Amino acid sequence: MGERGERLAFGVRTAPVRGRNAGVEMKVMERVAECRAALEAERAAGRTVGLVPTMGALHDAHASLVSRAVAAGDAVCVSVFVNPLQFGPAEDLATYPRDLAADVRVAERWGASLVFAPPVEEIYPPGATTRVRVEGLGDVLEGASRPGHFEGVATVVTTLLSIAGPCRVYFGEKDFQQLLVVRRLVADLSLPVEVVACPTVRALDGLALSSRNLHLSGEEREAAAVLLRALQSGAAAILAGERDPGEVRALMGDIVEAEPLVELDYAEVVDASTLAVPEKLDGELRLLVAARVGRVRLIDNLGVRL
Ligand code: PAF
Repeated sequence: MGERGERLAFGVRTAPVRGRNAGVEMKVMERVAECRAALEAERAAGRTVGLVPTMGALHDAHASLVSRAVAAGDAVCVSVFVNPLQFGPAEDLATYPRDLAADVRVAERWGASLVFAPPVEEIYPPGATTRVRVEGLGDVLEGASRPGHFEGVATVVTTLLSIAGPCRVYFGEKDFQQLLVVRRLVADLSLPVEVVACPTVRALDGLALSSRNLHLSGEEREAAAVLLRALQSGAAAILAGERDPGEVRALMGDIVEAEPLVELDYAEVVDASTLAVPEKLDGELRLLVAARVGRVRLIDNLGVRL
C-alpha cells in the first residue's frame, strides 16, 4: 500500500527510506532566505543537495523521487508549493489537495531532511512580473491545451532553482513534457543543476500516481485505466511495424473514446526530445495522452525506442 492507501504495482518500493538522511532532524522553512541558507550550509558541510519540487499531497511517486535523491547521497529538500501561476482560470487551484503537516511527516519518513513550504507572497512578492517562457517545447500538447501552464511551471522552477543553488533536481517522467521544459531552461540559463528523471510510478490498475487521482470516484478510476491501455496499444502497433504517426494517434484516440466516462483531449506520438510529430516513426519516441475523467484531467505517456 502507498502512503495514501493506493495499491502499488509490483516492484515499487514503498518502505520508508533508510539512507544516510534517516534520523536527521526535519527542518521546515517558509522563507526564501532560510531555505537558501540551509542549503548553502549543507554544501558547506560537504553534502550535495537534492531538490524535489512538489505541489504537496505527497504520494508514492514523490517517494520514488526522494528515494532516488537519498540513494544519491543528497541532503534532500522537498519543496511544497501550490503554484497559482501554472493553473488556468477554470482549473482546480482552489480544490488542489493541501495538507502540509501530512506532507512533512511523509517526507521525513522517506528520508528528506528539509521541507520548503513558502507562502505565495514569498515566491511572488508584490510587484513581481518576471516570467520564464520556454518556446517550442512549452507551446505544444499540454502547452496548447493549457495556455500559460508551462510559463507558470518554468517561472516557479527557475525561482526554486535560483533559491536552491547548485543541486540535483528530481522530476518524474509522468509529466514528460514538464521534464523536457525543465531540462531546456536549465541548459539555456546555464543553471548549476543536474536534472534527474525518474520513472513513472503506477498503481496496480496501471494508473500513473497523481495527487489528482484522489478526486476520482471508483467508477471513474476504473475507466481511467483506458489511458495506459491506449498507450500500450499504440506502443505495440509501433513495435509491430506501424510507422505512420497518424495511424498510431487514431488507434490510441479510438481506444480512449470508446470509454464513455473519459473525454479525450489528445493522443499523440512524438519525437522524445523535440516533441515534434515525425513524418515517419523512428528513433526515440514518446506516446502521450491527455483526457478528462469526470472533473479530473489526467495525462500519461510511454516511451518506445526503435
Ligand atoms: O509537477 C509538479 O508538481 C509541479 O508542476 C512543479 C514541478 C512542482 C512546479 O510547480
